[in-house]
Parts: sequence; structure tokens; C-alpha cells
Amino acid sequence: RPKVTLSTLRKLSKSDTPITVLTAYDYPTALLSESCGVDMTLVGDSLSQVCLGHDSTTQITLEEIIHHAKAVTRGSKTPFVFADLPFGSFEVSLEEGVRNVIKLIKESGVDGVKIEGGVEIIPLVRKLSEIGIPVMPHLGLQPQRATSLSGYLVQGRTAQSAYEIYQTASEMKDAGAFGLLLEAIPHNVAKKITDDLDIITIGIGAGNGTNGQVLVITDVLGTYSQEDIVGDDAKESTLVETPNQLQQASELTLPTPKKPSASPRFVRQFGSIGMASKYAINQYVQAVKDRSFPDTKESYNMKKDEWDGFLT
Ligand code: KIV
Ligand code: NA
Repeated sequence: RPKVTLSTLRKLSKSDTPITVLTAYDYPTALLSESCGVDMTLVGDSLSQVCLGHDSTTQITLEEIIHHAKAVTRGSKTPFVFADLPFGSFEVSLEEGVRNVIKLIKESGVDGVKIEGGVEIIPLVRKLSEIGIPVMPHLGLQPQRATSLSGYLVQGRTAQSAYEIYQTASEMKDAGAFGLLLEAIPHNVAKKITDDLDIITIGIGAGNGTNGQVLVITDVLGTYSQEDIVGDDAKESTLVETPNQLQQASELTLPTPKKPSASPRFVRQFGSIGMASKYAINQYVQAVKDRSFPDTKESYNMKKDEWDGFLT
């Protein structure tokens, strides 16, 4: 597959082919998107919770984003890779925002950036677009503002707030943004923005009328889930474990990773990696404890005369 470019993404949206987007935080997660034909890979600031154990995205630093983005770009030959501007890296001044984006691009090699905000980020979106950096503003629910919003709440449900999102979307397009990320807004608002404006829309919790969809990779894989695959549709897919193995996995005493929050409506778990991982680690611990690992085929031999020579 050739590298996904802005032109590829525009062709996909013009031909009504949904664009697939997944987050990645390191080399192995980047390789999953690479090998499964995912179109875009996002180094999301969800890194803060799902990889570094913080309870909010506001704690992540630009340096940490860069460190992880470097590993992601090493594992991404094909997808269009973009990274979140973390909280605190662009609000102080236009100049600081531009400088930080240039630093992020130079050091990590990502193709573009995503920025949470409303009309106040338009000067930054315009400047970055003018100097040739692809920008995707993130509208609707903005997790970096969860505290001031009093939680992770659906946005754009009133006529007034839907209009504000629509208007901001239009201004972002005029400022040169190549795309929009629309999070947790009514599906018909997201579809109207997609239909009316000549800009690529990627949705999460925004219905299926957008040009593409994004999910957090750990939600898709069920990395932190204590359950087997959830959701009526997913139940039909192949289970990775036998009931017996599931039972053993559920008896584990490994520490449970912090789940960032109760799953929002828009999450669908497509796998049960958390269960599979615990099962594997439990088997390893048991095998070491009962000395069944390593067995002779997993150990190195020595010729008998060499051994005898060694002993004398
Ligand atoms: O940080 C993130 O993972 C994101 C996506 C959920 C859109 O911003
Ligand atoms: Na984010």
C-alpha cells in the first residue's frame, strides 16, 4: 500500500469510502494499524490515561507526546500519522503554539496535528495551515476541558450549541484546516457538517454520517476490560478463549490496570486482549513455579565430552 496522503484522504471522502482511524502510542500499536490497513494513526493525548496511568489528558506533556510519537512513526510506513497538541502547549500564545508544533513535527516525524478548541484556536489553525502543516481541529466534546465542562458530556444537543459547532466548523475550514474531529455530538449535526462543508470529518460518538471513524485502540482491543467481548454484534465473532481458559483467567490476582472511566456510549469493544493477556501471564507464572518452563527443548545442550572436560 502506498503512503496515505491528504490527497488519498480527500479521494476517500469524495468517493464516500469511510476513513479508518485508530490511536497508537508506541511501536507495537502503530504496527497494528500499519498491518491492518488503517488509513490514519493518531497519537492521541489519551496516551495520558491509557498508557501512562494519569486520570486526565491535561497531565501529559509535549515531551511525552514526542517520545511516544517517535515510536509510532517508526512503526508507520503507510498510515497518515498525526498527534494531539497536549494541554498547555499552544494556549499561551500563537508564537508558542507554532514553535511547539514545529518541534513536534521535527522531532517525531508526524504528518499533522490535532488541536482541541473553538474560535480561539483559529489564528493558530490559520498560521499552521499557511506554513504547510496539516491541522485537524477537534470540536464538540474536548476532553482537555472536562473539568470546566463538569465531565465528559455530549455537546451540541441544543439548537444554539449545535449552531455554534457548525459555525466554528465552517470557520476552521476557512482557516485552512484539512479536517475536523467531531467528538460526542448528535449524529445529525455531524452529518450536516460533513454534507455542507468541503472538509474531511472524523467522528467519535458522532454517528456514522462522518467521512471516517476513530476509536482508542485499548477500547477496541478490550485491553482493560474484565469482560469477554461485549456488545450484541461482537458476540458473534470468534472468542479467543475456551470457557475453561476464561475461568482460569478470571481467577488471576494480577493488578488490574486503571480504566480511564466507565465506557462512553460510543465505545465498542472488538476484542478481549485484557483477558487473553492475563491468561498468558498466568500460564507463564504457573509454568515457572512448577518448573515446567523451560523444558529440555527450550534449553541448550553441551556435548558429553565437553561437559566431562569441564568437570575435570
Ligand atoms: O486522544 C485521543 O485518543 C483522541 C481520540 C479519542 C479522538 O483525541
Ligand atoms: Na485527544
